[in-house]
Amino acid sequence: MPILKLKKLSKTYTEGKNVETHAVRHIDLEIKKGEFVVVSGPSGSGKTTLLNLIGGLDAPTSGTIMFNAFKISHLKEKDLAHVRLHNIGFIFQAYNLVPVLTAKENIEYIMTLQKVAPKIRNERIEKIAHHLGIYNLLHKKPNELSGGQQQRIAVARAIVSKPKLILADEPTANLDTHNSETLLDLMKKLNEEEKVTFIFSTHDPVLIEKAKRNIILKDGKIDKDITV
Ligand SMILES: Nc1ncnc2c1ncn2[C@@H]1O[C@H](COP(=O)(O)OP(=O)(O)OP(=O)(O)O)[C@@H](O)[C@H]1O
Ligand SMILES: [Mg+2]
Repeated sequence: MPILKLKKLSKTYTEGKNVETHAVRHIDLEIKKGEFVVVSGPSGSGKTTLLNLIGGLDAPTSGTIMFNAFKISHLKEKDLAHVRLHNIGFIFQAYNLVPVLTAKENIEYIMTLQKVAPKIRNERIEKIAHHLGIYNLLHKKPNELSGGQQQRIAVARAIVSKPKLILADEPTANLDTHNSETLLDLMKKLNEEEKVTFIFSTHDPVLIEKAKRNIILKDGKIDKDITV
C-alpha cells in the first residue's frame, strides 16, 4: 500500500476575473513508504504548489490525495491539522523558525502540541541534538545562528515529532555546497534508519543525482518519473 496516492490532482489559482494559472495539472502519483523522492523542474513548474497540496497547506481545485489509504484532500481544516500534526513534518527553504523561541523551544513546540510528556520530549531532543551536532546551539535564538545551523534546527524540528512523511521545499536553496551535501546525507540517513518517507524539491543537480527517484515537473505536469 502506498503511503501517498494522488489522483488527478489539480490546482488552479485565479487572480482577478480572467487570469487563471494552472499550477498543478491532473497529477497521478504513488509514493511508497520509505521512498526518498526528489521533485525537480524549472521555476514555476509547480513544485511548491504540489508539496503544499500534499501537506494540506493549500487546497486542491480538484482531484484527491490519499494518505495511508485515508482521504485527506477534502477534510475540514481542523481534521486536516490533526492529520498534519501527527504525520507530516515540514522543512522550508527559509527555515521558518519562530524568532522569539530558542532552538530548543522551536524543536520542542510540535511535540508540545502533540501532548508528548515533558520527560520524553527532553529525551528525544537530547538524542536528536547529539545526532545532528546541535547540542551547543539549543539555547540560542534563530538570529544568533548561521543559515546552515538554522536549517539543522529546522530538520530537528521536523523529525523529532516522528512524522511518517517529511516534505521539504528546496531545503538547501540557501545553503552552500558543503552544507547542502551535509543536509542531504542527514536526510538520507534518517530515511534509511527511521524509514521516514521524504519528498523534497530542489534545483541542485548534485542532489538530484543522489536521489533514487526523480520526478520532473513541467508546466504543472509530471514530465518524467525516473527511478535509478
Ligand atoms: N498563491 C498563488 N497565486 C497565484 N499564482 C500562484 C500562486 N502560487 C503559485 N502560483 C503560480 O503557480 C505556478 C507554479 O508555482 P510554484 O511556486 O508551485 O512553482 P515552483 O516550481 O515551486 O517554482 P520555483 O522553482 O520558482 O520555486 C507559477 O506560475 C506561479 O506563478
Ligand atoms: Mg517553489
